[in-house]
Order: sequence, then structure tokens, then C-alpha cells
Amino acid sequence: MFLPTLTTLAALLSLSSTTSASPSHSLSARSPSKHSHNLAARAPTVCNGHAELCDRSYGNVTFIGTHNSYGNGSSIMDNQGKGVVDQLNDGVRTLQVQAHKGSTGDIRLCHSSCTLLDGGSLTSYLTKVKGWMDANPNEVVSLVIVNIDTIEPSTYASAFDAAGMTSNVYQPAGAVTAIDAWPTLGSMIESGGRMVVFMDYAADFNSVGWIIDEFSNMWEDAYDVTDQEFGCNVNRSSGSPTTTLSLTNHFLDVYGNILGINAWLPNKDLLNETNAETGYGSIGQGAQNCVGLWGRPPNHILLDFYDSNGNSPFNVAAQLNGVSAPTNTVEVSEDSKGSNAEASGVAKSTAAATGATSTGGTAARTTTSALNAAGRSVASLGSGVWVAGIVAMMVGAGGLSLSL
Ligand SMILES: *[C@@H]1O[C@H](CO)[C@@H](O)[C@H](O)[C@H]1NC(C)=O
Ligand SMILES: *[C@@H]1O[C@H](CO)[C@@H](O)[C@H](O)[C@H]1NC(C)=O
Ligand SMILES: *[C@@H]1O[C@H](CO)[C@@H](O)[C@H](O)[C@H]1NC(C)=O
Ligand SMILES: *[C@@H]1O[C@H](CO)[C@@H](O)[C@H](O)[C@H]1NC(C)=O
Repeated sequence: MFLPTLTTLAALLSLSSTTSASPSHSLSARSPSKHSHNLAARAPTVCNGHAELCDRSYGNVTFIGTHNSYGNGSSIMDNQGKGVVDQLNDGVRTLQVQAHKGSTGDIRLCHSSCTLLDGGSLTSYLTKVKGWMDANPNEVVSLVIVNIDTIEPSTYASAFDAAGMTSNVYQPAGAVTAIDAWPTLGSMIESGGRMVVFMDYAADFNSVGWIIDEFSNMWEDAYDVTDQEFGCNVNRSSGSPTTTLSLTNHFLDVYGNILGINAWLPNKDLLNETNAETGYGSIGQGAQNCVGLWGRPPNHILLDFYDSNGNSPFNVAAQLNGVSAPTNTVEVSEDSKGSNAEASGVAKSTAAATGATSTGGTAARTTTSALNAAGRSVASLGSGVWVAGIVAMMVGAGGLSLSL
């Protein structure tokens, strides 16, 4: 069996990364907008798309979110099929990112390691989000930062400044806000502070007050779940789950142990059920688990490949929020088509072999698809674990444990 070295494969995978350092010039040229403050100074009549939500406390709203929102594409480390601006256009309002210390001291958005998937700098990502927020002044957006290298809050503040985002952040009155003490969406929009920033570790209210300590303000249920039951039990919290916000990790993984490597990877074959409105393993059922245990639905629902079932997640959120269903149509991207990805992977690898589509990043991506296809046949462990094989090939018998 052909077993390429880790370095070779890691290089191929990193070449296939998504938004690597290509900030949009038109967006990055923008400075913090004074206009947005003037616009926001009027009390809004529509908030996050609905008049009813203006008077609703942030703690009484359910938002759809994206797990590893910066990682879109067809590499095994990607969790999304569309880029962050498309996510926002489709109705996603909670963006989760994993932050790593870059080699030059900058903050980069990477999945597990920047060698495996480098989604570009935090500043370049925030610049895109800022551009969208300026164009959509009546929207409250949340950012959940996984601070994997425990980078200090002031370094994050610099990245927000560089993106012109500091004027949009929500500044809480104290380090901990009880779920029923959050302001209304209307007042957040009116004040201009409509970007709510949570960080899992190393937040410090006294140094950067708007980087909110996640677990004393919001609990999470388990992640890397492989059971379609999605229990909605508390997994990480440093406060009281009955008086703080909640986030549910509604993405299903498959677990593979191949050649001694443990890997949790998105279960793309069951996206049709995981991202459905109703039925076993669905978003609707997951939310009802939360209602059953806690008397209310979750505030944030994080998904992988959120667009796999079109409008379904947004229909569920609308129902939970008691508002009308969205009128826009969420198109399913190629990379979110669940098990169909297998067929397209084979097609792409054929194209790569014949040199049909090989230019720059596209070539690297098709190579990854070829590797994914190879991984599937090497692993032969059933439909659910197609990506595990490539991880096995990638790290050899090194005993590495990947938690994705
Ligand atoms: C918001 O409040 C209403 C009325 O009490 C409740 O039915 C709903 O479940 C709450 N939603 C959340 C996310 O707290
Ligand atoms: C990410 O999604 C955007 C559109 O949402 C697309 O233009 C871009 O090519 C995607 N990136 C990859 C690597 O597929
Ligand atoms: C939290 O979730 C992780 C990952 O699924 C799991 O390993 C851990 O046992 C869970 N901890 C608790 C306290 O539930
Ligand atoms: C979802 O897709 C899988 C195949 O990947 C299939 O076995 C299953 O029956 C589908 N579920 C529904 C509810 O259609």
C-alpha cells in the first residue's frame, strides 16, 4: 500500500485550504464606519429579519450557527460548504471559529492545526464579516472563539481593530450576564453593539471587557457526538446552566480508529437526517431534547454543512422563535451534498488525473479529492467513515488523535 509521508500529505491538504490570506481589497479598504452609528441611532423596526424580535432579549432568541465557519470546501478538514459571507446571507447568525497563533504572531483560523487547514487570518475573516454587517445594519451576529493557543485578549482586540470591527462589538455591563438580563436585539442594534463575542478560555473582563467569557455566560453540550440522540446535557459550563445562555453542538461525527489513529470526522452520509427539521437525529428533535431538559430551546445551534437541507435549520429557528419562516431560498452547495460527495470526489480525481482542471488551488483541491477517494477504498469500513482512511494514510501509524 502506498503510504505517503505526513509532510507530503499535510502540504497537499494545506494547499487545499479555503480562504488563505486573500482579503478582499474593497472590504479591507473600509475604515470603521461612522455612518453605521448614525443609521443605528434610530430605533430599528425590524431586527434579524423580524419586527417581533426587536423587543426580544438576546437570551430569548435561537440563532443558527456554523461550526468552523471559516473552513469551507472539500478537504477532510472542512466543516462547511459555503464561505462566511454566503453563510450570513443565508441566515446564519452565530459563527464559531478556532483560533491559532500564527508563525508571525498573528491569529489564524485553522482546524486542529494550521498545517492541516489554514483558513486565513482572523483579521481577514473579520473584515468580510464587517463588510456584511455594514451592509446589514439591523442584524445581531455572535462569534464564538475557540482559543486553542490561549492567546491573550489584547491580541484579539488588535485583530478586531484592524478589521474595523471594534465599533460593532457588544460591551456587557459586567463579566457575567444572566440569561434574562441580556438586552433586546432592538437596543443592541440601536447602540451599535451588535457583534457579541464569546471566548472559551483566557477571556478577561478587566482587560478586554467585550470578549465575553463563554462558560460562565453560556454552557455547551457535548461535541464530537456520534449518537443521533443528541442529549442536550451540560458538557462544559462554569456557571449555572439554568441561568445562563446555551449552545448545542448539533453536528454528527463518525469515529474511526484505523492503524491506531482516533479521528472524529463529519458524518456527511447522515447530513440528510442531522440537518433536517424533524425526525430522528434532526435539529427539531435536538431542540426538543433541550426544551425537555431545560424548559427552553438552545440559544445557539451549531451545524456542519448547514445548507445540506436547504432552509430546514432556518425553518426550525423560526418556529422556535415564533416568527414566520424565512422567504429566501438556501441553495445546497456542492460540498454539502452528503454522500453525493463521494461520486463528485471520484469525478474530480479523474479530472485531476487527466489534467483537465488543473490550475493553482483547484489542482490542490482535486488532489485532495483523489486522496479522499483512495482513503475510502483503503479504509473499506462502511459508508460512514470515508474520510477516516485518508487520515490514516496521512499520519501513518503515529497514534495521533484528531478531535475535529
Ligand atoms: C423565549 O420565550 C418564550 C416565551 O416564554 C418561550 O416560549 C421560548 O421558548 C423562549 N425562547 C428561548 C430561546 O429562550
Ligand atoms: C468557499 O465558499 C465560497 C462561496 O461561499 C466559494 O467562493 C469558495 O470557493 C469556497 N472555498 C472553497 C475552498 O471551496
Ligand atoms: C464532554 O464531551 C466530550 C467530547 O464529546 C467528552 O469526551 C466528555 O466526556 C464530556 N464531558 C462531560 C462532563 O460530559
Ligand atoms: C439519509 O441518507 C442515508 C444514506 O446516506 C440513508 O440511508 C437514509 O435512509 C437517509 N435518511 C432519510 C430520512 O432519508
